[in-house]
Amino acid sequence: MDRASYFSDRANGMKRSVIRELLKLTNKPEIISFAGGLPAPVTFPVDYVKKAVNKVLDEEAGKALQYGATEGDPRLKGKLAEIMMKDGIDADPERVMVTTASQQGLELMAKVFFNPGDTCVVGLPTYLGGLQAIKSYGGVPVGVELDEHGMIPEKLVETLDRLEAEGRRPRLIYIIPDFQNPAGVTIPAERRRKIVEIAREREYIIVEDTPYRQIRFRGEHQPTFQSLAPERVLSLYTFSKIMLPGFRLGWAYGPDWLVDKMVMAKQSMDLCTPPFNQAITYHMLEAGALEAGLKETIKLYHHRCDLMLAELEKNLGDTPGVTWTKPEGGLFLWLTVPEGVSTDDIFEKAIEENVAYVPGSAFFPNNDNHRSMRLNFSYCDDDKIIEGCRRLGKLIKEVL
Ligand SMILES: Cc1ncc(COP(=O)(O)O)c(C=O)c1O
Repeated sequence: MDRASYFSDRANGMKRSVIRELLKLTNKPEIISFAGGLPAPVTFPVDYVKKAVNKVLDEEAGKALQYGATEGDPRLKGKLAEIMMKDGIDADPERVMVTTASQQGLELMAKVFFNPGDTCVVGLPTYLGGLQAIKSYGGVPVGVELDEHGMIPEKLVETLDRLEAEGRRPRLIYIIPDFQNPAGVTIPAERRRKIVEIAREREYIIVEDTPYRQIRFRGEHQPTFQSLAPERVLSLYTFSKIMLPGFRLGWAYGPDWLVDKMVMAKQSMDLCTPPFNQAITYHMLEAGALEAGLKETIKLYHHRCDLMLAELEKNLGDTPGVTWTKPEGGLFLWLTVPEGVSTDDIFEKAIEENVAYVPGSAFFPNNDNHRSMRLNFSYCDDDKIIEGCRRLGKLIKEVL
């Protein structure tokens, strides 16, 4: 039986992610894992959830346990617009669309934008789940190099020039502007304006994926792409990292003609994001859960990030050619080793030493970078960060 003959070309094009398979190894209890992207469970606002669940079940069970509108609960949409307004965006609740977290936003983006073979500009490195969504609809991610200030506008121009000359004009530019996953870098205002200018001049859509934006623990807030170019930016938000990931709740915001199309695409995907979760979230926001929780989350991640930076300095500070980014927020930093060492090759050794990271190759469309690794600092407690950095430092020094 030729099993592949049963499947669509799309399904046959889907590959098991080697990285995700590797990462299963990191679940062993003896391993200190800097590999995941998980928020710290102590930040979950359990008391607010309890109160809101009871309120919803006591007062509006009939509605909350029923199907809901594809666009989302209008009360929640109002609250989401308020969150954006506090961030300098002139947000219209009508243009908010609730999504089953931002991974669905990415899937919808891919569904409405890409025909097989269409190109899409992404940062290098970029979020693995974004690459998977783009590829699952036949999109072809084309990378533009980042530096410590995110996407480099001159490199963006070079890439657009090249693709346009080849007759492969990209459908959109995908950017993670704040504390980027995986590199932890943030695009400064001036660069954002340059990128917007380029997009305007050449009439490109920008997709701004910004799950970490509210987790800033130093430096200045930078304007959103949404506030700079509302006519051409689709923004994707999520509660996963700022409140809790288990509700699978996020939202998309952009020009009405674009959001309309996303809503149509969502209908056949899940009809609506669970109305129960939306109602609970609405009441939690009403009660101030986001502000209260964020304050603590930012404090904790600031501490853990600084501890990891200090421990890396202690264990690898005198090692020539080893560098790492110094994030102003978010959950990740990006460590680079000298030429000649492959973070893919030393991954198994790291597992033997009971420490784990994500090899940088996972975040490149062609898996062709082998000199970096992503380290998560949100999940492990202090002792684990200290011991994990010691093990990692020892391993890197040994292979050098
Ligand atoms: C850049 C980026 N976008 C989207 C997501 C998906 O998050 P969620 O579906 O939980 O909202 C993540 C998760 O880590 C991410 O890092």
